[in-house]
Amino acid sequence: MSYGPFDRTYTAAEDRYEKVPYRRTGASGLDLPAFSFGLWQKFGTDYAFATQREIILHAFDLGITHFDNADRYGPPHRAAQHNFGRVLAKDLAPYRDEIVLSTKAGNAIGPSPYLRGGSRKSILNSLEHSLRDLGTDYVDIFYHHSPDLDTPLEETVGALVSAVQQGKALYVGISNYLPDRTHEIAEQLRAAGVPLLIHQARYSIYDRRPEQNGLLDTATQDGFGVIVYSPLAQGLLTDKYLETIPEGARAQNSTFLSPDVIDETYRQRTAELNKIAAARGQSLAQLALQWVLRRPEVTSALIGASSVAQLDHNTAALDFPDFTAEELALIEEHGVHGTGLKL
Ligand SMILES: NC(=O)c1ccc[n+]([C@@H]2O[C@H](COP(=O)([O-])OP(=O)(O)OC[C@H]3O[C@@H](n4cnc5c(N)ncnc54)[C@H](OP(=O)(O)O)[C@@H]3O)[C@@H](O)[C@H]2O)c1
Repeated sequence: MSYGPFDRTYTAAEDRYEKVPYRRTGASGLDLPAFSFGLWQKFGTDYAFATQREIILHAFDLGITHFDNADRYGPPHRAAQHNFGRVLAKDLAPYRDEIVLSTKAGNAIGPSPYLRGGSRKSILNSLEHSLRDLGTDYVDIFYHHSPDLDTPLEETVGALVSAVQQGKALYVGISNYLPDRTHEIAEQLRAAGVPLLIHQARYSIYDRRPEQNGLLDTATQDGFGVIVYSPLAQGLLTDKYLETIPEGARAQNSTFLSPDVIDETYRQRTAELNKIAAARGQSLAQLALQWVLRRPEVTSALIGASSVAQLDHNTAALDFPDFTAEELALIEEHGVHGTGLKL
């Protein structure tokens, strides 16, 4: 990355496409970087904008072409999209064609019945607002953030299809849907001529639900890609919490990661995983990312970061040899589903 005079202009690194591999998203024609970047935490008004900008631009310089957002991300809600929009306008506008921009609608962002759920009104209003905040005419991927069992699936499908037909989204995705409803929406979307591109699901060494509930099999069957969120279990799958909770870490300053989960069982299992990583010459964070990406159903690992150093470190995760059967068995032994999870 280089900045022009007075830090006003940005020129992307010329070698940015030589750094991370790109993987095909399900049966579509769209490639995504093996690592995508999410703006869920530390991209609201609570963190320095200069640092946010530095991280976003560094990600792009590393070949991370895919940025994941949602109307909900902040704090306050919508702030992360507004902040990303500032970077897009100031620095990334010349590269808009090289960026896959995602947003989501459907998780509650206020008490109004129109600021949540899967209704046509909620979904399409949210998209309009997101486009304004991001300062763009279209997003590349538009997601329904979570299933809404109180709204007919047909209505949600109709809203997603309209977003594409209106040219406001190129592809559609879903997040947090269980396999049966995923299959159902995939069928309805296919029938409407707007195939389901991608499913965003939580998956890590400590959260095995997509393996256990059959979501990864549904992905193969229905031809969509899987992008996994919280592959580091929000930082629990790093060595940072082995001794103490460091100043400024998410377990100290976020309502989404309680310090209560950092107990003796967590520390024992994580210390064992850390030893397996060390024996491979990599860090636990790198092992955890390489582990989710070993699955062919997984298109991309959606990571967060609070510094450029974390990004550099994490995107080196694929520089190591594939896991042996013995290593995978050891990871199974200590990577117990549910460790560190409250939900
Ligand atoms: N669809 C959904 O419902 C949903 C839900 C959650 C997330 N997401 C998406 O997924 C994205 C990623 O989620 P996530 O942030 O939970 O992912 P994650 O990669 O599991 O956790 C990222 C956090 O771990 C810490 N970290 C990262 N690398 C580290 C390293 N090398 N050493 C030590 N600590 C490190 C950082 O937190 P600190 O430094 O602050 O401790 C960082 O912000 C989100 O931004 C969002 O786009 C989607």
